[in-house]
Amino acid sequence: MRVETIGLATLYLGDCRDILPKLPKVGAVVTDPPYGIGKDGQKRTTGGNGGRKAYDFKGWDAERPARDIFDAIRALSDDIIIWGGNYFADVLPATGKWLVWDKGQRINQSDGELAWTSYHGALRIKVLNRVELMTDGAEHPTQKPVKLMKWCIDQVRGHGAILDPFMGSGTTGVAAIQMGREFIGIEREPEYFDIACKRIEDAQRQGDFFTGAAA
Ligand SMILES: C[S@@+](CC[C@H](N)C(=O)[O-])C[C@H]1O[C@@H](n2cnc3c(N)ncnc32)[C@H](O)[C@@H]1O
Repeated sequence: MRVETIGLATLYLGDCRDILPKLPKVGAVVTDPPYGIGKDGQKRTTGGNGGRKAYDFKGWDAERPARDIFDAIRALSDDIIIWGGNYFADVLPATGKWLVWDKGQRINQSDGELAWTSYHGALRIKVLNRVELMTDGAEHPTQKPVKLMKWCIDQVRGHGAILDPFMGSGTTGVAAIQMGREFIGIEREPEYFDIACKRIEDAQRQGDFFTGAAA
């Protein structure tokens, strides 16, 4: 297992099934696990909203995480947001506050995505076109926009570190660092882990520059 500390972020290269049981309680878990729908290794597309890059097949989206991973996540915090909640509804308790990402498009791809939260309260909708990813620079086949993850962290009530056990290219980490929050990230694929380290390092450096903490 490799561990990188980058400013407010601690990043683990490894399997979250091994690492989660060793972590202390955190302020919140904000994550986007595999949904088990084969979105890994997509081919290049062109057309509406700029199309999509091609990605190598790594096999990580062949199945969704088992129930015990969700139990391990729920043991670490009462404040949880999980994207793809509609794929995991049978292993998560019923709550009122779901989050909706309306992709602002009505083309032949999904109109939006759903996140389960541990909160009771009103459902919330964020309209954000997926072309945001072009501004962020897409480096992962199922990358989320930074603005979307900042909106999620805004909903979080718990103080303390934000944990993402399926961090992919590190979008939750970039959002957390830009918001001055501590972050713990876990990723199993070395290629995505390296991308996450780089993106989070850039976010940290920019933050240091603006606060005057840079040397
Ligand atoms: C849906 S993607 C996350 C994408 C992320 N939201 C982003 O913006 O880049 C899920 C990630 O979880 C990783 N993963 C799958 N199983 C894992 C495990 N057991 N431990 C750690 N990472 C895992 C995959 O390699 C994949 O990068």
